[in-house]
Amino acid sequence: MSVAKPLPHDAATLHVTGQARYVDDIPVPEGCVHLAFGLSTIARGKITALNIDAVRAAPGVVDVMTGGDFAVIPDCSPSAHDEPLLSDGTIHYAGQPMFVVIADSHLAARKAAALAQVDYAEETPILSVDDALAAGSRFEDGPRVYGKGDVEAALARAPNVIEGRIEVGGQEHFYLEGQSALALPQEGGDMIVQSSTQHPTEIQHKVADALGVPMHAIRVEVRRMGGGFGGKESQGNALAIACAIAASRTGRPAKMRYDRDDDFTVTGKRHDIRVDYRAGFDAEGRLVAVDFTHFLRCGWSMDLSLPVADRAMLHADNAYDLPAARITSHRLRTNHQSATAFRGFGGPQGMVGIERVMDHVAHVLGRDPLEVRRLNYYAEAAVASAGASGGDIFETEKRKRLATADLAGRRAVKVKQTAGGSSRYGGAHSPVPVTARDGLTPYGMQVEDFILHGLTDRLATSCDYAGRRAAIAAWNDAKPVLKRGIALTPVKFGISFTLTHLNQAGALVHVYQDGSIHMNHGGTEMGQGLFQKVAQVAASRFGVGMDRVRITATDTAKVPNTSATAASSGSDLNGMAVQIACDTIRDRIAAVVAPELQADAEQVVFEGGMVRAGVAEMPFEEAVKRSYMARVSLSATGFYKTPGLLWDRIAGKGRPFFYFAYGAACSEVVIDTLTGENRILRTDILHDAGASLNPALDIGQVEGGFVQGAGWLTTEELVWDAKGRLRTHAPSTYKIPACSDRPPVFNVALWDQPNRVDTIYRSKAVGEPPFMLGISVLMALSEACAACGPNYPDLQAPATAEAVLAAVDRARGA
Ligand code: MTE
Ligand code: MOS
Repeated sequence: MSVAKPLPHDAATLHVTGQARYVDDIPVPEGCVHLAFGLSTIARGKITALNIDAVRAAPGVVDVMTGGDFAVIPDCSPSAHDEPLLSDGTIHYAGQPMFVVIADSHLAARKAAALAQVDYAEETPILSVDDALAAGSRFEDGPRVYGKGDVEAALARAPNVIEGRIEVGGQEHFYLEGQSALALPQEGGDMIVQSSTQHPTEIQHKVADALGVPMHAIRVEVRRMGGGFGGKESQGNALAIACAIAASRTGRPAKMRYDRDDDFTVTGKRHDIRVDYRAGFDAEGRLVAVDFTHFLRCGWSMDLSLPVADRAMLHADNAYDLPAARITSHRLRTNHQSATAFRGFGGPQGMVGIERVMDHVAHVLGRDPLEVRRLNYYAEAAVASAGASGGDIFETEKRKRLATADLAGRRAVKVKQTAGGSSRYGGAHSPVPVTARDGLTPYGMQVEDFILHGLTDRLATSCDYAGRRAAIAAWNDAKPVLKRGIALTPVKFGISFTLTHLNQAGALVHVYQDGSIHMNHGGTEMGQGLFQKVAQVAASRFGVGMDRVRITATDTAKVPNTSATAASSGSDLNGMAVQIACDTIRDRIAAVVAPELQADAEQVVFEGGMVRAGVAEMPFEEAVKRSYMARVSLSATGFYKTPGLLWDRIAGKGRPFFYFAYGAACSEVVIDTLTGENRILRTDILHDAGASLNPALDIGQVEGGFVQGAGWLTTEELVWDAKGRLRTHAPSTYKIPACSDRPPVFNVALWDQPNRVDTIYRSKAVGEPPFMLGISVLMALSEACAACGPNYPDLQAPATAEAVLAAVDRARGA
């Protein structure tokens, strides 16, 4: 069976030989025009004069369009209709498109775009969190609040309370293939659009709206992206719309791709976040209440900011069972690029908050942060049934407390208590009542599949966490300049779109007379290996080799009304839809050949290229031929929707996720206390991909996700100047991890246990969760800084050399 085999990416050979075709590689027809945007240079104000005479007169220019050329400027927004393609005269951020040049070549368009004379009436931009709060500049009327329990009462009773703040920067997607689109006009006003997008249906919908035609007039095709990472969920709309309009006006094919600086300057990035926290805990480090306030700078338009901010709230607990929690989320409107989806979709931002609290609590108590983390874990779910009974929770609690007492006995634990030991939560001998920890997330979902106790055990053992932690402490005592740190952090990530209706997918499968199979579904390929995994499903259903299955480009004319390939749900959703389509055809074939195999249709199996029942068998292609001769349809659609979801995002209650994906990472780092320079020395990862559909691709996702997450929290720093202009708009100033930044020792393994809920072959989504394993690096850096002095280092992110140096100073009390 093809499923579970570590096959290479379906286009691996094409990728490494440079033959894989991206939008910009598609040979364009004769007469193609090329587009470039003219961008604003101020962050906020009005255009008082826009003189484009020189642009029009420039060599190769065919036409120039401004906002004034439209009765209604086409909208690019995926949510709130608040994103005009071109400025309507008001400027909301530095980099906002004001006009679009249509020229004979890409270079001519770009050169001409630089020739505009623009006068502005500049206004003071709203840039910082404080600016936005002062101006009341936000999306939604006020902050959104989720939570459980009486946080204030619990904090008042808590033996220890800490307060703090962590600011975490945003992140540029830096997909290697920039945004691009190509519109090809067809007869009767129809349009075919090739787009580098995670969301072909959205492109179809927005282009149809812009042209004033029904969706059936627009067909969008996507063979692959050179990376999306969430940056192509909505950010491709502008290019596709601009191309479609230019193509419809000129009658010529139209193509647009952003130069890298423009891509940085125009498109949205990961939301940066400020997390303010108060946390109450007992003498062992068991949390009794946490109060988080999230401040997200969302940029100028709404885009996907509301669900991103929601997901940050939904991951504020990460792996920890919090008796009382409150998460308050401010979605601030600022004069920046409109922040958008990025791997983890807000989850990483929320998760950093609680991991920071764990680190801070452990520091205050002088305990090993891993012990504090484990003490706060949700209870391990019973293996036999999905729903753990109260008895199981009690048993697990008891086992955990014994283990903790064990550890505490062996180590001299220094406990600084701020209050007297009168609290019912406090003191090593007063057990926490089980009722205080009910296995419910702050949004009221029962955690039924928790596996992090066993997973953490196995990883801590395989990477020798305890031994190395002791060795590092000794090493740090002996070294005055370099300091090391180690941290093991967990991930629990919710799988499903929180917008419940998006959890659906379609597929179209044809079996041709010769037994070859054409497979299509609504998911898009961005490097993550979705196409290969789903092809493995198709091959397995028919019991044939992978060579029989043709992977085809995503096409809105084949499978309609698709969701973005996002939320890591690509293989869960499309794998199931393809399975359903294949099984429909399989059942039809079985019914045709069963009499000849002298069996009932239900007894017919498809394996090893054969269709068989007992000892009777025939080759798959023979069975296909007979079905065709019997005039049986060999084409079917499949449709799947995720069961059991119920979510009220206003109340913040329900079951937004089908299940959770888990993982843990242990990273060791070294810092130079003279310069703040730092690097990762070693990382060990154990990640839960369920029963993996393809371990090779899944390990690739884990490695890539971890490195991208570590980059976010260390070297990748976005800098806007006081006027709101992005100064880091190229690889010269924005540092993504290079091959040389990968940990020199990098051990990645999969926790190969089947998913407890019924997903495709019991696999788990794997695209985003490993990103958050990068948090282990930030926490290891915090430990290294803490080795420099008695104070909490209060390390901020990204932990650039400057940030590390500042944290070292704070640790020393300098
Ligand atoms: N891996 C590669 N190589 N390139 C990408 O663009 N995007 C990530 C992740 N892994 C991405 C990637 C993001 S943001 C998501 S949501 C998932 O892949 C989407 O694909 P999936 O649902 O098939 O996992
Ligand atoms: Mo991924 S951020 O859900 O595209």
